[in-house]
Amino acid sequence: MSKSPSLPPGNLGLPVIGETLSFLRDSNFSSRRLEKYGKVFKTSILGKKTVIMTGAKANQFLFKHENKYVQATWPKSTKILLGPSSLSVQSGEFHTSRRKLLYQAFQPRALESYLPKMEEITRQYFQKWTDLGEFTWYREIRDYTFDIASSLLVGTEGGSQTPLADLYTEWVKGLFSLPIPLPWTTFGKSLACRQKLLIYIEEIVKKRASQPNTGNDALGLLLAAKDEEGNNLSLAELKDQVLLLLFAGHETLTSALVSFCLLVAQHPEVWTRLRQEQRDLNLTSPLSPEKLKAMTYLEQVLKEVLRLIPPVGGGFRKVIESFEFDGYLIPKNWLVQYQIRQTQRDPEIYPESEVFNPDRFAPGQEKQESCSYVPFGGGLRECLGKEFARLEMRVFAALLIQKYQWELLPNQDLSMGIVPTPHPKDGLKVRFSLL
Ligand code: HEM
Repeated sequence: MSKSPSLPPGNLGLPVIGETLSFLRDSNFSSRRLEKYGKVFKTSILGKKTVIMTGAKANQFLFKHENKYVQATWPKSTKILLGPSSLSVQSGEFHTSRRKLLYQAFQPRALESYLPKMEEITRQYFQKWTDLGEFTWYREIRDYTFDIASSLLVGTEGGSQTPLADLYTEWVKGLFSLPIPLPWTTFGKSLACRQKLLIYIEEIVKKRASQPNTGNDALGLLLAAKDEEGNNLSLAELKDQVLLLLFAGHETLTSALVSFCLLVAQHPEVWTRLRQEQRDLNLTSPLSPEKLKAMTYLEQVLKEVLRLIPPVGGGFRKVIESFEFDGYLIPKNWLVQYQIRQTQRDPEIYPESEVFNPDRFAPGQEKQESCSYVPFGGGLRECLGKEFARLEMRVFAALLIQKYQWELLPNQDLSMGIVPTPHPKDGLKVRFSLL
């Protein structure tokens, strides 16, 4: 008779709190345990027993068995703060139908129509940064990505100058926290911000709903949509979806762009090659999808940025039926987390995996195993805004390289904070100028 599988190795930590504090504070939480226990280990975080699974095989397994063994979920704090109707916390038919609807705002044709506005906002920010000369880039890039998301996804220009931006900053702090709703806890403060955010978002939704033509951006599509009974979506749902789109549409991108600026500043040889590519292409304004496509070295660099410092470290799934993986039992009702960050640093797949080397993605070099490169997740829950994000990253990076230079100021902490997304702890202080 075959031996019944045992639980993975690992430590469940203290009662209730488990290993939550190290999970939130230690950027090496997973790598340390990976070294100690191997690619599948157990822990207890954010109030739930959790198995962390690393590697291409684990990703393939989890993406393939979505809705059979596992189902997308988020820690309780995230779920409550995103709201009950948010696409991210839904599953099954509701998820499929809303995803299909929202996807229209991210199709190639829609993306192409966003390009001029994206370019315009990008140039305005570059002008502002040239005038400033020295500044902390993380905060600025956050405003920039927020303005793009609010302008292109929900038709509200200059979102970063409204109270929405500061409210988001406070709100995200509670997304991964112990869900204790008291006025002085991180979670309690975030919850209060959610209520204030919803008030502003309601104004945006109502203003748009009163216009004769609701338009074709994400909010326009949601406003025009009908549910199965032919009714418009409820105001509560509209607000949750807008809250999600604005959050997902700027927080991750901010991290990706800041990492690009940091890594390129630290690798002048990469900057030189990027410059050379732009010079060789000798492109005139405005940008077009074809012109962006021709920037092959830039594409390699951006790919490597997302490999080395992925904005999302992993994704949570709820186990809906016990299963066996790699000889271990993964029990029903536990959570699993698939690992983006650790998988993309697997030295068996990426030699010298800690080194920033865009040439690993040079044409002809790409022979990685499927699901070993997953900055946008995979399967049924793959990032909805993937192409929007790739477009914005290319526009930002191409225009930056064409005309500007930047250097890191001395005496700053460049080690990475991880909440809500990876960023240098001092926010990346730079000197910025025209070439
Ligand atoms: C570099 C930027 C981005 C990265 C690295 C990223 C990463 C991810 C990842 C890893 C997931 C899947 C999480 C899981 O498996 O549970 C995801 C989901 C999602 N992303 Fe992104 N994202 C980015 C930008 C965006 C943008 C610009 C939007 C647009 C508004 C967006 C909207 C979404 C949405 C709505 C989901 C949920 C999809 C679903 O549950 O069906 N993301 N993203």
